[in-house]
Amino acid sequence: MARITAGIGSSHVPLLGVASDMNKDADDYFGPIFAGFEWTREWEKSEKPDVIILVFNDHASAFDMKIIPTFAIGCGELYQPADEGWGPRQVPAVEGHPDLAWHIAQSLILDEFDMTIINEMDVDHGLTVPLTMMYGKTDAWPVKVIPLAVNVVTYPPPSGNRCWALGEAIARAVASYEEDLNVQVWGTGGMSHQLQGPRAGIINREWDNMFLDSLIGESDAIRRVPHIEYLRETGSEGIEMVMWLIMRGAMGRKTHALHRHYHVPCSNTAIGHVVLRPDNGEGLDMTGSDTVQSIAAE
Ligand code: DHB
Ligand code: FE
Repeated sequence: MARITAGIGSSHVPLLGVASDMNKDADDYFGPIFAGFEWTREWEKSEKPDVIILVFNDHASAFDMKIIPTFAIGCGELYQPADEGWGPRQVPAVEGHPDLAWHIAQSLILDEFDMTIINEMDVDHGLTVPLTMMYGKTDAWPVKVIPLAVNVVTYPPPSGNRCWALGEAIARAVASYEEDLNVQVWGTGGMSHQLQGPRAGIINREWDNMFLDSLIGESDAIRRVPHIEYLRETGSEGIEMVMWLIMRGAMGRKTHALHRHYHVPCSNTAIGHVVLRPDNGEGLDMTGSDTVQSIAAE
């Protein structure tokens, strides 16, 4: 049986891809940002997931105003890095897991989530930057990826509650797949940021850390926070954070955190990162902190 063993939340700021590609990831500006992912890079070497269900958003690279799927699942064999205006990033192509992806698509649709099925798509910084943060520079990503794209670019995005429920349905889908696979779910995007208009540059450290807190433990109150609160408190692009709720929903009733990192600034964005385990009664309470924390060993 396939098992969801962990969840990761991570920002996807495109400048982090540039920093990695241009070997600037250890300089004064980027060093502290990348340092907060080192724990996870080491941890992933022993976790060795087989497949990541990578919840991300496309930024008008694969989709545009012609087609705007609310939830889309990649069932393809291979995804190439998208050209976002400067040529595709020189990072490996992303290998899919069509068999598990089709199984999840069937399970979700029969579970009344009307997924769009995608067999061909290029993937932009929303997907490749989190892979870079977790795996660094590599000739081949050491894991298969099922891209799960969410519309958070054009109003109306899905509600936090719907995202959480989709995560729960993903957990049911994975649990009903026969092959023994180690599966992680990643939620990406955020944290507070606004890229345009009079409030461009807005950062809300307090709200972001409340959001990170809300993913840990057993409260599900965050699923009922309305879009307008994300907009007011975290800027127009802060709504990307609803994608983390798909990851959180897939973790089940209760979680504990293994690692947590928050840093401002990164480009126009507050970056956040958390590693969660579906709760098994171990781990630390990492709520109420905006500094890097990790547990040494589980
Ligand atoms: C930035 C952040 C994003 O989430 C994004 O998609 C594009 C740009 C930024 O901070 O520069
Ligand atoms: Fe974004």
